[in-house]
Amino acid sequence: MFYLLHLILLTYFTGNIYTLAEKYPRSEKNGQELLLCRKCGADVADSYYLFSKPSPGAYKTEKQNIFGQQNVTVQTLVNPFGINFEVVTAEKARCDNIGPNQGADSWFPGYSWRICACKHCGQHLGWTFEKTDSNAPKETSENIKTFHGLILKNILGENFTDSLIMMPNMYRM
Ligand SMILES: *[C@@H]1O[C@H](CO)[C@@H](O)[C@H](O)[C@H]1NC(C)=O
Ligand SMILES: *[C@@H]1O[C@H](CO)[C@@H](O)[C@H](O)[C@H]1NC(C)=O
Ligand SMILES: [Zn+2]
Repeated sequence: MFYLLHLILLTYFTGNIYTLAEKYPRSEKNGQELLLCRKCGADVADSYYLFSKPSPGAYKTEKQNIFGQQNVTVQTLVNPFGINFEVVTAEKARCDNIGPNQGADSWFPGYSWRICACKHCGQHLGWTFEKTDSNAPKETSENIKTFHGLILKNILGENFTDSLIMMPNMYRM
C-alpha cells in the first residue's frame, strides 16, 4: 500500500517535470540562463540581456556571478517609502507594463517608469524604464531607449529550478 502511494507520487512528479521542461525549453546558448518568475515559473528574460545601468541614487552596488554571467551589476535601490529592492537591469524582458508612465522619483534620471508585471500571473517583477527626452543623442549601450529593472527576490534562474525538480528523482535510487 505504501509502495503504491510512493509510485503514484513518483508518477505525479515525473509528469510535472515533463510539462515544465516542455513549456520552458532551455536556452541553447552556453553559460546562459532563462530568468523565470519566481511565483509561476514563466519565462521573463534571458541572462544574455543583462547589462549594467548604474543608478546615481543606488544605495549599494555590487558585482555578482549569477544567472551564468560574471560580474552582473546588482544595485540596491530604495523607493520613497524606504523599501529596498535588489535589482538587476536587462535590455529585454517579457512583462506587462502597468499604468501610465511615471516621471517622478525615477532611479534613472531622464527615464520615466512603469510597473513591469509577470504576463502569466501578474506578479510584480520590477519596472520598465523609458527614455523621456526624445532629442537625446544617439543610443549607445549606456544610453538605451527602454530597459527593465528586475527585482532579484521575484525572479529565479532556470538552473535553480532544475535543482529543485531533480529532488524527486533521488527517491528512485
Ligand atoms: C544550466 O544547466 C545547463 C545544463 O545542466 C548547463 O549547460 C548550463 O551551462 C547551466 N547554466 C549555468 C549558468 O550554469
Ligand atoms: C569580472 O571581474 C573580475 C574582477 O574584477 C575580473 O578579473 C574578470 O575578468 C571579470 N570578468 C568578466 C567576464 O568581465
Ligand atoms: Zn508569474
